[in-house]
Amino acid sequence: MEMDDLLKLRKFIAPEIVYGPGALHLAGHHARNFGASKALIVTDPGVQQAGWTAKVEASLKAEGIPYAVFSGVTPNPKDYEVTSGAEFYRSWGCDLILAVGGGSPMDCAKGIGVVVGNDRNILTFEGVDEVPGPGPPLIFIPTTAGTSADVSQFAIITDSTRKVKIAIVSKMVIPDIAIVDPVTTTTMTSTLTASTGMDALCHAFEAYVSTAGSMLTEMMALEAVRLVINNVDGAYRYPDNMNFRDHMMMASLMAGLAFSNASLGLVHAMAHSLGGAFDLAHGECNAMLLEKVVRFNYSAAEGKYARLADTMGVRHHQNDPGGAASNLSASIAALRQRLGITQRLSDFGVREADLAQLSEFAAQDPCLSTNPRAALPNQIKAIFKEIF
Ligand SMILES: [Fe+2]
Repeated sequence: MEMDDLLKLRKFIAPEIVYGPGALHLAGHHARNFGASKALIVTDPGVQQAGWTAKVEASLKAEGIPYAVFSGVTPNPKDYEVTSGAEFYRSWGCDLILAVGGGSPMDCAKGIGVVVGNDRNILTFEGVDEVPGPGPPLIFIPTTAGTSADVSQFAIITDSTRKVKIAIVSKMVIPDIAIVDPVTTTTMTSTLTASTGMDALCHAFEAYVSTAGSMLTEMMALEAVRLVINNVDGAYRYPDNMNFRDHMMMASLMAGLAFSNASLGLVHAMAHSLGGAFDLAHGECNAMLLEKVVRFNYSAAEGKYARLADTMGVRHHQNDPGGAASNLSASIAALRQRLGITQRLSDFGVREADLAQLSEFAAQDPCLSTNPRAALPNQIKAIFKEIF
């Protein structure tokens, strides 16, 4: 941390956080504290099947709070799913939203809150601070250790007509309470553990080198990197080990608080473009991109990348930034491979002819504005080619 960093004007915003094994069962108690007369639960079929939605329902029943369940959410939640969810909310006369699941149900729930609070189509809120009024109270219960939508001021929704992801960045989408229960992550498949773990690592990396970082975000980002590096292999191999799961959940939470306040960078700009156009898994896109973007960015934030390398236990020499960038990039690549993420873009049906358009969309993504190095569409295209 250089002195200059301390002198920057910065703010830090976070929801109330209830963390720990068993926290899930407090959902009804907190809904009661908000005076809810009917709750909308936003979830998805996978989370329902894993049994977490039923546990939240039981907690609401115990408090005598009626509820309606909306599970019409797919990965990379679409604008029309938000519209349906908002209609569902109104038709049932709900006055509080409870999200249970990974990034998709949580982002969809944020979208529903914005729409019912402001009575406009979700796509009209794109950008930073474009949500004029508050929505209903939001209680979020994440069931993956990676996306951190439960603490962030970001909601990412797919514009289904243009096939692009839009970012809604606003204090209004920060949940009122994040109920973070690491036990919920034990039902993740190894594939999901890997991709969400890499997403958390990307959040920490991008927040740490962001041009909008502060001492608070940098501290959380570095600790998140340390926790991911020490625990993600274990969580991937031993899914029932609560120690690994607990540390990964805390890593995700810290990385989420860091990126919510410092924003992200080129990895997420490119991943949003890919996810919007081809409906690809967000974490896998990030995992493919991080090692390439580290090489691209390194010279623009050498000191910070050196500290990230130290935190990861990667050897580097002060007088050889090129070698340091290579070592750090190789270490991320090795982790990605250990976690079984070995696909290339061409495996997902992306054609080389698509890369120019994908690069144009990535260049317009708001996450790019805090990347330590400016990136032009042709430079972004060259990175896409590396993972093609
Ligand atoms: Fe992400």
